[in-house]
Amino acid sequence: MRLSGKTALITGAARGIGLTFAKAYVAEGARVAIADIDIERAQAAAADIGEMAIALHMDVTNQNSIDVAIAKTIESFGQIDILINNAALFSAAPIVDITRQDYTRVFEINVAGTLFTLQAVARHMIDRGVKGRIINMASQAGRRGESLVAVYCASKASVISLTQSAGLNLIEHGINVNAIAPGVVDGDHWDGVDAFFAKYEGKEPGQKKREVAAAVPFGRMGTAEDLTGMAVFLASDEASYVVAQTYNVDGGNWMS
Ligand SMILES: NC(=O)c1ccc[n+]([C@@H]2O[C@H](COP(=O)([O-])OP(=O)(O)OC[C@H]3O[C@@H](n4cnc5c(N)ncnc54)[C@H](O)[C@@H]3O)[C@@H](O)[C@H]2O)c1
Repeated sequence: MRLSGKTALITGAARGIGLTFAKAYVAEGARVAIADIDIERAQAAAADIGEMAIALHMDVTNQNSIDVAIAKTIESFGQIDILINNAALFSAAPIVDITRQDYTRVFEINVAGTLFTLQAVARHMIDRGVKGRIINMASQAGRRGESLVAVYCASKASVISLTQSAGLNLIEHGINVNAIAPGVVDGDHWDGVDAFFAKYEGKEPGQKKREVAAAVPFGRMGTAEDLTGMAVFLASDEASYVVAQTYNVDGGNWMS
């Protein structure tokens, strides 16, 4: 087991990729705090996993909520060795329809949420001398803009940039900061994306999914399980010399 004795705090882990990461980490011997604004779903997920998991209410847009979630994780498990900044919000609209409200909400969750959760956990790791791991969830959407996805793409480009700066700044404390850039991963998130494109491109429900799946060089959409190998690797001792990188795990969609 590669994460024995470690504790991971995973934001937005009540469902989707974050929940799959939580299960994969427990399978590797870690304890996990499943933190989400959807506390009922987080509690159900933690109960399903068992004694190696706790559920926490956490809103990454609220500093007090971040601080309380971190304090409760430390109270339950002693310290935090691994943070996954996974919570995010998708949005799409033509440039002329983007609202300031939508921009602010997406950037508050995807960018400020990532930065200030990372900052609070890094302070804890530095105080305790924890040689920790921080993994940010970027996206292929952060690698280039997309016609109808300006705000989300810009937010994920910001996550890649923050990963580089935080990675360079925190490695002097022995804290490795890296990111994962998935491609198109089936699940609740992509059901929402599909609905956006049905609205803006006049597609049938499910049509956008079939189109993006057909365009992946691997031959299908990704699953959350396709990402767990990278998530475990980046949290493990094997990745100690990996600093400030963003890894594409996307079936060949993007090369960089
Ligand atoms: N699914 C994909 O195709 C895909 C592709 C590239 C990148 N990603 C990224 O991977 C990560 C996980 O994606 P997913 O598909 O599991 O998403 P998802 O929408 O299924 O899950 C996101 C979770 O975040 C939670 N959340 C939302 N706002 C929050 C807040 N303010 N505070 C705390 N939690 C909050 C939600 O309740 C939800 O449980 C995200 O960062 C996403 O941008 C996903």
